[in-house]
Amino acid sequence: MFPATIIMNKKIIETLPENELQQFLELVYKEYGYDFSNYSEASFQRRIIRIMNLDQMPDLAALQNKIVNNPDYFKTFIEEVTVNVSEMFRDPLFYRSLVDNVFPKLAQLSTIRIWHAGCSAGEEVYSLAILLKEAGLLERSLLYATDINLSVLESAQRGVFPISLKDEYSQNYLASGGKNKLSDYYSENGKTFVFAKELSQRMVFSPHNLCIDQSFNEFNLILCRNVLIYFNINLQDKVIKLFKDSIAPDGHLALGTKETLDFSAVASDFESVDKKNRIWKIRKR
Ligand SMILES: C[S@@+](CC[C@H](N)C(=O)[O-])C[C@H]1O[C@@H](n2cnc3c(N)ncnc32)[C@H](O)[C@@H]1O
Repeated sequence: MFPATIIMNKKIIETLPENELQQFLELVYKEYGYDFSNYSEASFQRRIIRIMNLDQMPDLAALQNKIVNNPDYFKTFIEEVTVNVSEMFRDPLFYRSLVDNVFPKLAQLSTIRIWHAGCSAGEEVYSLAILLKEAGLLERSLLYATDINLSVLESAQRGVFPISLKDEYSQNYLASGGKNKLSDYYSENGKTFVFAKELSQRMVFSPHNLCIDQSFNEFNLILCRNVLIYFNINLQDKVIKLFKDSIAPDGHLALGTKETLDFSAVASDFESVDKKNRIWKIRKR
């Protein structure tokens, strides 16, 4: 009798030699201008090993070869190597704190500029747009949403999410202090729901790489949540300086629940507004 399936003798990769990884990162930088040398080593290695095992590559040289000879594959590599986990109204108490502590400051401005750095598929941007609308601030707000991963940016621009998530997102919305029903802001379309254009027309989506790109405006609020955890301490410091240089007078910065700027060389330029929910304000200069 023949077996129903033939199992190939696959080699499973578990670690990468450090010098080879270093050479690989240099090549990626040289070919494509993406600098991953300051990503937190352990998690970044795990992501690369995952890609190699998925695509059955015997060693880093094979991955290197494919990346150099196939720019489309490089796009897939970026999609796989970045972690895009997100959700709407993630950490609802954080959003409540924004509404209570930051919105009153934003309400004093005639134009409100907000930067979502590392916006993933837009979950956080649509969440904030809804709360701004309920506070009567959306019409004078511009939400700049950037990410290194072009594929999630395209998805964010469409404002389409799987219908399977709507109950969870609705609960988060109410826990964040939402005043209506989340369904007031979207329409269902088969297996997806899509947010109203009135929200997305206040949004500007653009690629931006926090490792190498400069500031592009002055913002009253910057949100960069759950991104710094993937960077080593040097890169975190560099990015926090970038934010400091991008914040308008009286502006605020929000990080993820496991992130801080306390170690940074510019920590004394910020004062804490809500320690638990990781919101800071720039000190008066
Ligand atoms: C875990 S998600 C966080 C999404 C959202 N901010 C949240 O808290 O739910 C991290 C995002 O950072 C992006 N990212 C990773 N490295 C980046 C870089 N160098 N520049 C800009 N974005 C980056 C990833 O593509 C991903 O979308």
